[in-house]
Order: sequence, then C-alpha cells, then structure tokens
Amino acid sequence: MQDLQVQQNNTGVKPQHSIVLNERELKRVSDFIGTEVGIQLPSTKRTLVESRLSKRLRILGFDDFKSYLDHTLESSDGALEKLQLIDVLTTNKTSFYREPDHFDYLVKHAIPDLENGARKELKLWTAGCSTGEEAYTLSIELNEVASQKKNIAFNILATDISHSCLSKASRGIYTDRQAESIPLELRKKYLLRSRNSEESLVQMGPELRHRILFKSLNLMDSHFDLPSKMDIIFCRNVMIYFNNNLREELVARFESNLVKGGYLFVGHSESLNGIKTTLNQVAPMVYQKN
Ligand SMILES: C[S@@+](CC[C@H](N)C(=O)[O-])C[C@H]1O[C@@H](n2cnc3c(N)ncnc32)[C@H](O)[C@@H]1O
Repeated sequence: MQDLQVQQNNTGVKPQHSIVLNERELKRVSDFIGTEVGIQLPSTKRTLVESRLSKRLRILGFDDFKSYLDHTLESSDGALEKLQLIDVLTTNKTSFYREPDHFDYLVKHAIPDLENGARKELKLWTAGCSTGEEAYTLSIELNEVASQKKNIAFNILATDISHSCLSKASRGIYTDRQAESIPLELRKKYLLRSRNSEESLVQMGPELRHRILFKSLNLMDSHFDLPSKMDIIFCRNVMIYFNNNLREELVARFESNLVKGGYLFVGHSESLNGIKTTLNQVAPMVYQKN
C-alpha cells in the first residue's frame, strides 16, 4: 500500500482520497430511497451506496456527503439531482429472453387461454422494464403470435422509474453481444444492423418498437394512471428489493389492474408465498386473476 502511494507521488499523480459515507448519511439516503422508490438499503449496502454516490459528488464538485445530501434532499434546486440519485441507486440488470420459460408459458398457455376468453386486443405491461430488453422480447414473441393468428392485436406499456434506462430503452439500440440471447432467426427477422460497420450495434426494428410505449412510472404511487386494465403484467426482479408490506400492496394494485383471467409474472426469486393475495398460482412465478 505504502509502495503504491510513493509511486503515485513520484509520478506526480495526485492520490484520490475517498469520501466516506457515515451511518447518519446512509440513513438519510435509505430513508429517501425507501419512501420514494421502495428499495431497502440496510447498513450492509453502505459501501455500494458510497461508491455509486461518490461519482455524483465528483461530477457536481461536492467534497463531502453531507453537503451533497443537503443540496439534493433539502434544497429547492435538488429536484433534478434526486432523479440522478434514484438512477444510480437502482439495479438495472436485465437481458433479452431472461428467465425464458416465462415467454414459453406466455405463448403456449396464457395467450391461448386469453383468446378463448375472447380477448382479441391484448394489453401487456412490463413494470420495471429497465433498459427495454424485456419489452422487446415480449414484442418479438407477440409479433410472432400475431403473424400466425391474424385476429390478434397487442400493445405493450413499458415503465420504469429510471430516466436514463427509459431513454436507452426507447432508442432500442444494443450491442451484438447483448442481442445474442435472441434466437438467430428472430434477430434476422426483426433487428436492423447499424450503418456504421465498425460498430457492432443493432437496433430493434419498427414492428417491434411501434408496439411499445415507454413511460416513467413509480410503482410506489398509490394508484397507477393506466390507460386500461391489463391482460398480462410482467413485474420481474423489481419487488425483490421491497419489503413484504410493499410487495403485498403492489400485488394488490396489480390485481386490480388486471382483467378477469389476466396473468401476473414475477421474477424467479420473488414467489408470492407469504403474501396475502387472491391470485392463483398457475406455473412457477406465474399467477392468474380468478
Ligand atoms: C433488475 S431491473 C429488472 C428489469 C426486468 N424486469 C428484468 O427482469 O430483466 C429492476 C428495475 O426496476 C426499476 N424499479 C425499481 N424500483 C422501482 C419503482 N419504485 N418504480 C418503478 N421502477 C422501479 C429499476 O429502475 C430497474 O430498472
């Protein structure tokens, strides 16, 4: 450690001193994030919060967390930075065809069942869509269904609290690597290649994008302002960060926004066991409204 310090000084590089987030400051952050977003940030997350927020301090030129938090949480100029703070503290990991058995269940069971119930214009919602991969996966699968059954139409609402995720999602541009989990024949059919051949980027094609409306929505809002009731709701890998009370409230709000016979898909580590709900489990992490 000492050697490194000497080396840095010899080369004239100023050692970067790290700014420490103390327990009181962590509590200010976790109270705000807990109330606004629902995400729990216990003391075990201190290092993670410290490292993610340090970048914001550096960008804005604050020397300590107290001044940063005073500015962001207490001052009237803090509104925009509050969005940045939420952005850096939410976990946005996602991928195309994540937890693929859900898409299988959707096509083989949920859609035929809704069709039998005379639902011809399906409304889907991905709640906590992150950078859009889940919404585009749904759009691919539904486009495939609609190309075989001409009497089915669909549209997808994709919402998140993170503004940077939503803007990436609505651009619909991904690296080849990210798109690899889309089956090859579907990539060929629906994806456009970037004109710049040096960049290995792809864009989601118009027939995928036109079906999706990306919108900012905080799942903590006590009533969602949805255009209509939904046939299918995907809320996967979002509630994992919420406490049981919040999860129960959210599941109840999802239920009241589902049509009769509609489906809720949750992430594979987010079983509704222990939560009061009248939704019926019909497959692993798939629930249906009676
Ligand atoms: C881990 S990603 C999951 C993405 C996708 N559903 C999947 O399973 O791949 C969780 C997303 O939930 C969003 N999120 C967390 N709390 C939220 C809230 N209160 N309202 C809306 N979105 C929220 C985050 O911004 C993040 O993009």
